[in-house]
Amino acid sequence: MLTSDWWRSAAIYQVYVRSFADGDGDGTGDLAGVRSRLPYLAELGIDALWFNPWYPSPMADGGYDVADYRAVDPAFGTLAEAEKLIAEARVLGIRTIIDIVPNHVSDRHPWFRAALAAGPGSPERELFHFRPGRGAGGELPPNDWPSQFAGVTWTRVADGQWYLHLFTPEQPDLNWAHPAVRQEHEDVLRFWFERGAAGVRIDSAALLAKDPALPDVVEGGDAPHPYIDRDELHDIYRSWRGVADAYDGVLIGEIWLPDTERFARYLRPDELHTAFNFDFLACPWDAARLRASIDGTLAAHAPVGAPATWVLANHDVTRTVTRYGRADTGFDFATKAHGTPTDLALGARRARAAALLTLALPGSVYLYQGEELGLPEVEDIPADRLQDPMYFRSGGTDPGRDGCRVPLPWSGSEPPYGFGGAGTWLPQPAGWGGLTAQAQAADPDSMLGLYRTALRVRRTEAGLGDGPLRWLDAGDGVLAFAREGGFGCVLNISPHPVALPRHRRILLASGPLDEGLLPQDTAVWLRLDE
Ligand code: GLC
Repeated sequence: MLTSDWWRSAAIYQVYVRSFADGDGDGTGDLAGVRSRLPYLAELGIDALWFNPWYPSPMADGGYDVADYRAVDPAFGTLAEAEKLIAEARVLGIRTIIDIVPNHVSDRHPWFRAALAAGPGSPERELFHFRPGRGAGGELPPNDWPSQFAGVTWTRVADGQWYLHLFTPEQPDLNWAHPAVRQEHEDVLRFWFERGAAGVRIDSAALLAKDPALPDVVEGGDAPHPYIDRDELHDIYRSWRGVADAYDGVLIGEIWLPDTERFARYLRPDELHTAFNFDFLACPWDAARLRASIDGTLAAHAPVGAPATWVLANHDVTRTVTRYGRADTGFDFATKAHGTPTDLALGARRARAAALLTLALPGSVYLYQGEELGLPEVEDIPADRLQDPMYFRSGGTDPGRDGCRVPLPWSGSEPPYGFGGAGTWLPQPAGWGGLTAQAQAADPDSMLGLYRTALRVRRTEAGLGDGPLRWLDAGDGVLAFAREGGFGCVLNISPHPVALPRHRRILLASGPLDEGLLPQDTAVWLRLDE
């Protein structure tokens, strides 16, 4: 593998800084905490870290409301500390991916403050989408676009104009048709590449461009959507690619699109390097559905020559162990409900098998902090402690995303479980003593033990990461495939134990075998006898 091709096969660990480790004891995670845990990350065996936004932010949306793209929030540390962290991680062989939020800024960003002050018709307002309202007195929003977080996408300011925000009112959308917006973001990319970032995760990457007429959404029909997946985006990303190439940097898109052909257009050779595979993330625990998702993913990526990515979880979705322990094992924002009956032991068994499946597929793989500890979703955070705007804006019908963002348990038997200071920004549940990194570290059969071993094997097996996959014959409910070098992976989701293909050796199993047979919800890695 060429060094500059590291991203084609990488195992990337997502750090939600606020909840990873708290170095200064104030109950909020920070860069000092991450630095102190770099040895843990090196031992885990990952190739890169993706940090959720660490910039100064009023935290109206967990840092996705950025007030200054060239600094670090004082709650997390300083810019100098971020540079040290990037350098220290690199010494350990770990690259850094930062998170850029181009669709919107914080309402505290100097550009938005200036736009508010300058008034209607000013050049400052042209950086955003300000419009008069509809109705006789302009009292109605300019169009009918629904917010990604429930509610309307427009807020009226004192002088009567409205501004667009696809997310919360604290996140005004930028006008990407304006050259200054493009220029600024390319400068921000250079700023971070010059500080050692190896890659950039692009937030809400398919939403930036808007139809300048801002028309209502017309369902069905062939007209381009007024704000999703517009063709103008490709020119923006080609230009970003030019910036990234000058630094050997990598661009990763957050692109939720059901149409895989449209999705793959972003991954053409002169655009983004990779994008998150949300089809696989949302896929239910069903062999035929998983196989279809894998085949569909590989087929979509092949024509553009981009490697696939495999993701089971992130800071926006239900924790894997919980999701797989429910009757409905798929993920959908619309049907997310807390308090659904959940069998966590079943979920954990499936999550272990899913880890082996995911780490054996062709391409790169993302791991969300706490997944390696098998943390479940925390579903009983008291309402007065919840922080996520998804919860508030839905009037509480959507439980929000706090349940997957609870500070990590590192050691000990009660909160704060070695996280740092007491009074963590989100409360940790009782009963996580057995899930701490320390409790699991010594046990090779723990979730942490499984991930460590799997990531080590993944690094040493030449056939893993980017490269071809060949399906092997297997019965209903079973996924079996070979990778180059005689590597095999078999996952049994059927109710019956199944025989393994001819093999010389079992490299790793997600759970005990049953007299040589592979039980339900179990996966193995094999040295095939071919
Ligand atoms: C992305 C982020 C999410 C955030 C949203 C708005 O989907 O992953 O956490 O709320 O963008 O920036």
